[in-house]
Amino acid sequence: MRRKLIAGNWKMNCLKEDGLALASAVFQKCSEYKTLPFDVLICPPLSLLGQIASLPHPMTAIGSQDVSLAPKDFGAFTGDVSAEMIKDLGASYAIVGHSERRTMRHETDAVVLEKAKNAQQKGLTAVICIGETEQERESGLALSVVSKQIKGSVPTDSTGDNCVIAYEPVWAIGTGKVPSVADVAEVHAAIRHELANLLGSEKAETIRILYGGSVKPSNAKELLSVPNVDGALIGGASLKIADFWGIAETQF
Ligand code: 13P
Repeated sequence: MRRKLIAGNWKMNCLKEDGLALASAVFQKCSEYKTLPFDVLICPPLSLLGQIASLPHPMTAIGSQDVSLAPKDFGAFTGDVSAEMIKDLGASYAIVGHSERRTMRHETDAVVLEKAKNAQQKGLTAVICIGETEQERESGLALSVVSKQIKGSVPTDSTGDNCVIAYEPVWAIGTGKVPSVADVAEVHAAIRHELANLLGSEKAETIRILYGGSVKPSNAKELLSVPNVDGALIGGASLKIADFWGIAETQF
């Protein structure tokens, strides 16, 4: 049984004061419960990761938004932060291959694969992001694009313990546009199928596939009830506790 994962990607947002307040509000919400029927993850900017992870964080995992491509823990890689360092800060997850990095930083599937491996080798769970552009969807290429991204960026020793997939259609990120339930179901089933081809069906069944792109309290219940949708990767709405927790609350 795959537990749902409610994950916030804060992107390049928050200074110390508002970031610590937001994280504390998430921790406070979680601590109001003895147990939660889902997992919670927040991915603050690296500037705040260490400070946030050093606070008591009941039932909340902390993740980074990226990891170095360098194949080493330490060395002459100015500006990079290795998986070892991210783990040392107290994180247990690392997002890799977000579409903003694939687009703006020109990260290819091969780069995302190496980053995912670096994360996994240090015991971090890699949250590997995939998704088609609007043009690709309109040309009927959505399924072939995500299949290629799975083949190219998911390490072959991935399991549910070290890998999460996030399907984020690029055109749905930050736009308020959301694919139909039928389209989400179709892509998530195709991702599961492609994972089974790559890893075998037993392992593929253990891997959580999140949906991301304009998730809000008002659409979360419907999106998260689609077969093979095992949680959400939330951008804008993760920056307001009422919205982030409003999404989580649809899963009680
Ligand atoms: P929005 O929720 O703001 O659309 O962002 C989604 C996203 O990119 C999460 O990684």
